[in-house]
This record gives sequence, structure tokens and C-alpha cells, in this order.
Amino acid sequence: MAALTLALVALTSAGVLQPVSVVQAQSKTSAKTSAKKVATKATSKSASPAAKATVAAKEQLTDGKQVYSTTCVACHQVTGEGTPGVFPPLAGSEWVSGDEAKVVRILLHGVTGPIEVAGETFNGMMPPWGGTLKDADIAAVLTYVRGAWGNKAAPVTAAKVASIRAATSSRTTPWTAPELAAVK
Ligand code: HEC
Repeated sequence: MAALTLALVALTSAGVLQPVSVVQAQSKTSAKTSAKKVATKATSKSASPAAKATVAAKEQLTDGKQVYSTTCVACHQVTGEGTPGVFPPLAGSEWVSGDEAKVVRILLHGVTGPIEVAGETFNGMMPPWGGTLKDADIAAVLTYVRGAWGNKAAPVTAAKVASIRAATSSRTTPWTAPELAAVK
């Protein structure tokens, strides 16, 4: 019964909250995209490679925060603290700051069943994000959460996400904590 309730919470959040944030994301993105296009036209011919790299690094930070606030914030909260007993924290989470091979899998396919995070056990279900988020989005949001709220883990690259996506392409169900523990 508890599991059923949690599943409903997840479904309701995914079904009701997501469309709202997707609409917000789209309108924000289109405004941003046209601004970017103008900026790109003005600078692409003259900017040095180093200047371009700086712009790219800044964009990755910005995009990660944006992906977080449209896709993750409803459950994991602005503070990254989650909701006790329901949504696990990302701040101080050993999954977030640990092995990228595991956390990328969590993002691509979701995670279900008992999972211990920062000393507390959660038993819910997170839907997969691999269908809605591109490799670059997953890399950006993971880079953001691995550096936010006092977390200090290394960035994740889109190439790494792409290689894990390819290696796990036959996966159709969310991971469980024991399965993830066995991932090398
Ligand atoms: C619908 C609510 C919901 C949304 C939206 C959501 N999550 Fe989760 N997330 C969960 C739940 C519930 C779990 C724990 C599942 C379990 O108990 O097995 C979880 C677990 C996790 C974990 C592993 C445990 C931990 O706390 O470190 C990570 C990492 C994570 N989510 C990251 C994200 C990121 C990044 C996003 C946005 C792309 C996101 N989640 C969006 C509900 C959500």
C-alpha cells in the first residue's frame, strides 16, 4: 500500500507537474535561443577558440541549472534536500558525488525500490529521463548537481553519457540499488 501510494505520487508529479514545467521551459528556451543566435552571429567569426571555450563552459553551467529547475526541482527541491521519507536528497548524496557510471544510469533509466541515501532509506520510484533529456542535458544537470549545495564532484561530459547510453541501450526498466552496486 505504501509502495502504491509512492508510485501514485511519482505518477502524479510526472504527469501533472511536468507539462507545466515543459511549457515554461519551451518559452524560456525559445527566447534564449533567439538571443543566442544573435550573439553567435555577431561573434562566431571573430571570437578566439579560447573565448569560445569559455562561453561553452558558462553555457554548460547555466543549462544544467535550467534543466534542474524545470525537470528535477519538483521532487528534489531548490535546496537539493528532497522531501524526508519521499524524495531523497541530492545534496550530500553519495550517489550524486560517487561513480558517474552509476548516477548516469540512474538518470537514463530511473531507479526503484529501497535505496539508502545519506543514511536514510527511501523506497519509491524515479521515472527514466533518458527519453526526454539529451546526452548534453544529462551531462549538464549532473555537472550542476555535482557542484551545487556543497557537493564537490567532477563534471560529467556528454561523451560519457553517450557511451553509457549506448552500453545500456537494451535496458527498459529502472535500476535497483543492488544492480547499481554491481556496476563497475
Ligand atoms: C517525480 C519525482 C522526481 C523527479 C522529477 C526527479 N526525481 Fe530523482 N528521484 C526520485 C525518487 C522517488 C528517487 C528514489 C527512488 C527509489 O526510492 O528507488 C530518486 C532518486 C534520485 C537519485 C539517486 C538517489 C539520490 O538522492 O542521490 C538521483 C541522483 C536523482 N534522483 C537525480 C534526479 C535528477 C538529476 C532529476 C532531474 C533530471 C530528478 N532526479 C528528477 C524522484 C524524482
